[in-house]
Amino acid sequence: MLTRREFLKLCTATVLTASLTDQIVPLMRHAFAEGKLTKPPVIWLELGSCTGNSISLDNAVNPTVYQVLADMVDMRYHWLLNVAQGLEAVQMLLDTVEKDAGKFWLVIEGAVMTADNGRYNHVFMRGNQMVTGITALQEIAPKAKHIIAVGTCACFGGPAAAYPNPGGAKGVWEVIKQPVINIPGCPANPDWMTGTFSHLIMYGLPELDSYNRPKLFFGQTIHDLCQRRQQFEDGIFASFPGESGCLYKVGCKGPITHADCPRRQWNHYVNWPVRAGAPCIGCANPGFPDSSMPFYNHLPDVQTPLGALNVKKFGAAAAGLGVAAVGAHLITGVVAKRIGKHWLDGTKPHEPDPPENIEQLKQELDDLIRQQNALISESKSLQRSEVKRKLPRTLRQKVVDFFRPGQKHRR
Ligand code: SF4
Ligand code: F3S
Repeated sequence: MLTRREFLKLCTATVLTASLTDQIVPLMRHAFAEGKLTKPPVIWLELGSCTGNSISLDNAVNPTVYQVLADMVDMRYHWLLNVAQGLEAVQMLLDTVEKDAGKFWLVIEGAVMTADNGRYNHVFMRGNQMVTGITALQEIAPKAKHIIAVGTCACFGGPAAAYPNPGGAKGVWEVIKQPVINIPGCPANPDWMTGTFSHLIMYGLPELDSYNRPKLFFGQTIHDLCQRRQQFEDGIFASFPGESGCLYKVGCKGPITHADCPRRQWNHYVNWPVRAGAPCIGCANPGFPDSSMPFYNHLPDVQTPLGALNVKKFGAAAAGLGVAAVGAHLITGVVAKRIGKHWLDGTKPHEPDPPENIEQLKQELDDLIRQQNALISESKSLQRSEVKRKLPRTLRQKVVDFFRPGQKHRR
C-alpha cells in the first residue's frame, strides 16, 4: 500500500497522466483482498440539489462508478443507485444506521432546507410518514463515523441558497453539531470525492482548512495553478471570454477561489473552464453564486490617489503594472470589505465580530491605516518615474494621457 506521503504526492502531481481514481482503486482492491482495509458502509442522502455530484461521480470514466462503488465503499443507500426500491431500500438505510452505528459514513449531497420545518425537501418514507431532509440528517448524523458534504450546496448552501432563498437552504455544518468534511464544487470533481474517500479509508482524516475542506485539493487558489498565469504576470488580458490572455478582466474569480481545477481538470482530464476560455466563476467558494455575481464582472476596482483604477487601466499601463496593480486591487477590495479576506487566504470569516473594547478598535484602525498607507505608497511609486523611464516615448505618452487626460507630456 502507498505511504501517506506517496498518496499525497499522487493527489497533487502536476502532470496527471491517468485519473487519480484510476490509480487508487486497484491499490485499494488489493488492500481489501489482503484484509488490510475494510470497506466502510455508506449512506448517501440527497437533500436540496440537482444531483450534479452523483452525476459527477458517475463521470469517473475509468474505472466506472460501478467499480468505485464495488471496490472502494460498501454503498448501502443511494436513492439513484439502489437496486432495491421503496420501503425495502429504506429498510436497508435504517438497518445500517442501527447495526453499523459508529462505523458508517453519511455522505450528504444538496443543501439542507430549513424553512417551515424542512417541508420543501422530503427524502424517504418511513411507514406512512414522509421524512424531511433536515430530520433525516439530524437523526442519522450523530450515529455516523464521518459526515461528508459533497458539492457547494451541501457545504455552504450553494445555488440552492441563492437570493431570495425561500426554502431556507443551508450548508450541512450550519445545521448539525458534528464535524463535517466539506468537498465543495458545483459539482465536486470525482477525484476530490474519491481522493478524500481513499484518504479516510487508508490514513484517516485528511488535513482540513478552516472551512473543513481537504487541503490536498483545496490548499491553493485557481490563480496559483492557472496555465494563463504568465499572461496575468505580463499584463496580457482577454477582453472577451474565449480570447487568449488572462481572463481577469472578464470576471475570473480564480484569485479568490481555492481548488485545483487547473491541475485536475474535468471530464477525465479533458479540459477546465479557463483553458476553455471561460473565467472561473468561483463555484467552489462559500457564498457562491451570489458572491460571484455578475459572473463576467471583474473583481472590485482599486481606489487610489489616481482615482479609481480598474483593470482596463492596468492593462493599458502595460506589463509590470498589471501584477502590482491587481495585487493592490485585491488588497483594497479586502480593506473596503468588498472581497472577504478569507477568500484570499482560505480562512473562515469571523464576522460579524465587532471590536469588544477600545484597544481592539484602535488595533483595527491601525491595521486599516497601515494597509491604506501601503496602497498609497504603492500607487505613488507606480505614478513616478519608473514607468516614464522604462517605457518608449509613445507608450509613455499613452499612459500619461490615460491617467491625466489633457496634460502635456514632457521629454
Ligand atoms: Fe488564470 Fe483567472 Fe488568474 Fe487569469 S485571473 S491567471 S485566468 S486564474
Ligand atoms: Fe468551479 Fe472555477 Fe473550478 S468555476 S470548476 S472552481 S475553475
